[in-house]
Amino acid sequence: MTQIGLTVEKPETFRGDAVARGVFDDTDLSRLGVPGLTDQAKKLRFKGGAGESFFAFDRFGSPSKHLLLVGLGKRSEYGPAAARAAAATAARRLRERFASTALFALEAEAAGRRAPVVLSALAEGTLLGNRRFQKYVTDKERRFEGLSGISLRVARKSAVLQEALGLGKVLADATGYARELATEPANVLTPEFMAEEARKLARRHGFELKVLDEKACAKLGMGAYLAVARGSHHPPRFIHLRYRPKGAKFHIAVVGKGLTFDSGGISIKPADGMGAMKSDMSGSAAVMGAMAAIGALKPKVAVDAVMAMCENMPGGGAYRPGDILTSMSGKTIEVLNTDAEGRLTLADALCYVQRQKPDAVVDLATLTGACVVALGPDFSGAMGNDQPLLDAVLAAAKESGDDLWQLPLPAAYRKYIKTDVADVANMSRIRWGGAITAGLFLSTFVDEGRPWVHLDIAGPALRDDDGGDAHRAEGSGVGVRTLVHLVLSKAGGPRKA
Ligand code: BES
Ligand code: MN
Ligand code: ZN
Repeated sequence: MTQIGLTVEKPETFRGDAVARGVFDDTDLSRLGVPGLTDQAKKLRFKGGAGESFFAFDRFGSPSKHLLLVGLGKRSEYGPAAARAAAATAARRLRERFASTALFALEAEAAGRRAPVVLSALAEGTLLGNRRFQKYVTDKERRFEGLSGISLRVARKSAVLQEALGLGKVLADATGYARELATEPANVLTPEFMAEEARKLARRHGFELKVLDEKACAKLGMGAYLAVARGSHHPPRFIHLRYRPKGAKFHIAVVGKGLTFDSGGISIKPADGMGAMKSDMSGSAAVMGAMAAIGALKPKVAVDAVMAMCENMPGGGAYRPGDILTSMSGKTIEVLNTDAEGRLTLADALCYVQRQKPDAVVDLATLTGACVVALGPDFSGAMGNDQPLLDAVLAAAKESGDDLWQLPLPAAYRKYIKTDVADVANMSRIRWGGAITAGLFLSTFVDEGRPWVHLDIAGPALRDDDGGDAHRAEGSGVGVRTLVHLVLSKAGGPRKA
């Protein structure tokens, strides 16, 4: 476990392994008290821009062995996003020096009124930048635990900043947890494995928990979800976590797509990149991460969290193209492609969770490659039936650092998922606008008048490159922080406010 705390100690006297010092593009380096720094920075073309960093010296003596300068960009633009990225850069680069203890002087207070938000972001970036998924790397030479002790420097300590640090820690832990789940391979993370994780969460935080097996799901009529599960040897598990605080001001339902692996089923995917489909449960990972944070923060918002966990495989029992399924809602679905399976599992999960009569429903799903084509690898797509809820989710995303962009849900496109032999088809009959037609399919299963937002997180769920506080070849934990900020906003704002 990494220890992190606030300190007012000066970089000049810090006795740990390393100091990471943030500088803006207008910072006068000659005033930092390090001989030759201005010349060295000039030589390396270091201008203090966002994303820049360099080791100013390696002294291998005391007080500290390494000094890392980290660009913070423009002072006027300094906010949580820049802070998160700078802190992650610092944590990442200090791994190169095998540093164990470090002082981070990253100018939280330069953000003025936004200092608490920036401090939370610094804690998130530091802690997430510092952790790596290495549990299966047995070569000790390749394994490094990262920083064990980090002091975040502030000019003055305060209860507000202390609280902000606490929030940042919770968000980092929750996001890190979601990352681990998303990165965990499908031979380990099965539906039952996830159910066991939910049991641990429920025990730790006092949530109510229901885990439904095939029989229980069949009894409820979940014909769409169960069809997807049938091609796999791993039995499905439908997970429902319930958080009911006293004096709740709002009731939200969160639904996460939980495909522990998506081979495509009978409509099998090409071999190239299929391994990435171990992360097709990133929606459920985000929900689990958010619930971990909610358990720690205890906001006055009632939450139902639902994850229909299963694996999409082409086994002998698999469902096929042409099959007609009866969903829990009673609506029938013609299967045109067994690789459009997420929406089938979500159809039943949405129906199930709405029986709890929530004020709002938010689902997160690695739903379509089309969304990645539309928005690229960083952005999730947001769709929904209620602009105020969409605006609240977009605002929460902005605060949290998750990139999110709204897509339309035009009723005119409904014709593309019509079929002659059932109520709706699971795939569009045209190639274009696949993220939207998937959203429209889901909207078929949302009750009239119930505010609902769908987040297609297919792009950012699994990372190909390092960026921000996320790492290549790992799940990103996208959605965790958005969900937590959304819930906090419904509880009357973050506790620190
Ligand atoms: N899990 C995939 C979507 C996906 C693609 C997630 C890339 C992450 C990265 C989903 O189940 C899927 O296969 N969708 C199909 C739908 C199509 C058959 C209508 C797709 O996007 O191709
Ligand atoms: Mn699929
Ligand atoms: Zn899928």
